[in-house]
Amino acid sequence: MKAKLEQIRKSAIDALERVADRDTLFNLEKKFLGRKAELAQVMKDIKSLSDAEKPLVGKLINDIKRDISAIVEKKRTDFSAQSAPGRSGWDKTLPGLKPALGHIHPITRFLEKIEDIFVRMGYEVVEGPEAETQAYNFDLLNFPKDHPARDVQDTFFLDQKGDDGLPMVLRTQTSPVQIRAMEIRKPPVRLLVPGRVFRNEATDAGHETTFYQCEGLVIDQGIRVTDLIGTLDLFIKRLFGQDVKIRVRPHFYPFTEPSMDIDMSCLLCQGGGCPFCKKSGWIETLGSGMVHPNVLKNMGVDPKVYSGFAFGLGIDRLMMLYYGVNDIRLSYSGDLRFIEQF
Ligand code: DAH
Repeated sequence: MKAKLEQIRKSAIDALERVADRDTLFNLEKKFLGRKAELAQVMKDIKSLSDAEKPLVGKLINDIKRDISAIVEKKRTDFSAQSAPGRSGWDKTLPGLKPALGHIHPITRFLEKIEDIFVRMGYEVVEGPEAETQAYNFDLLNFPKDHPARDVQDTFFLDQKGDDGLPMVLRTQTSPVQIRAMEIRKPPVRLLVPGRVFRNEATDAGHETTFYQCEGLVIDQGIRVTDLIGTLDLFIKRLFGQDVKIRVRPHFYPFTEPSMDIDMSCLLCQGGGCPFCKKSGWIETLGSGMVHPNVLKNMGVDPKVYSGFAFGLGIDRLMMLYYGVNDIRLSYSGDLRFIEQF
């Protein structure tokens, strides 16, 4: 009986696969599943089987019916899709268009990694305004009145005047938030300030007029240069791995004394020298230094009691290195072909 059932299954499937029109499908459905179908006949014969065999054969018949019904259903949907009114060739069984879901921009994602590292070291994340007065952007940070950075070459000036009576600027750095944050805080503080900054630059693969920085400020009693170097070494290793080395070079910033730049060993050539690091083996990563006593005073902090360190990190180039991006302008292009790669 089993062989007979398998035979029925095979001939039904063969016939149904070849069906090319609705009428034949209707007839074959009747032939294989209807009341007078061969399967129905076999069902009647089950009575004569032994008690052990009855459930087995019953199950086989049900399986075969299910297989045949599945093919009939599939064929029926195919035919109705083909003949949907006014939509020749339109297959309504095809899946619909998936709505595009966005995701976080690579710069934001990279900033979040950086924030995570500092938050675990006890830092508080704060933000400040992008349109800034010259007092905050320059004067309170100990920039001399004739410092070339105020020049229209580097700074975007706005028509609107600030409280200081001077035209406001698009902030050229996140450093002004050091002062703003300390207006409502007292030491000890550990602050991290991510944000967008603006400079009147000629753009190329490595320069944009808009880019991101992340500022750090730590003030407490007894803070020393070694705290600064140790913190930034740990940060860079947590971000890029234990094998990365740092190098400290003297530099000048008006708001720190002493000031230094921190480089990290080039990830592409492991310090051996390549075009990315201009054959030096090092990549300029951070500006930093011990907060200048004048700046502490402008924050209302007594430099005889407290000391602190600050640093400024350019986000874009590090993000490019982290994800392997070769043109800074791609970040701000809004081009989905770029964004969708992340
Ligand atoms: N503001 C500096 C710049 O944009 C970067 C910087 C250097 C920030 C040293 C700091 C610092 O806080 O201590 O070039």
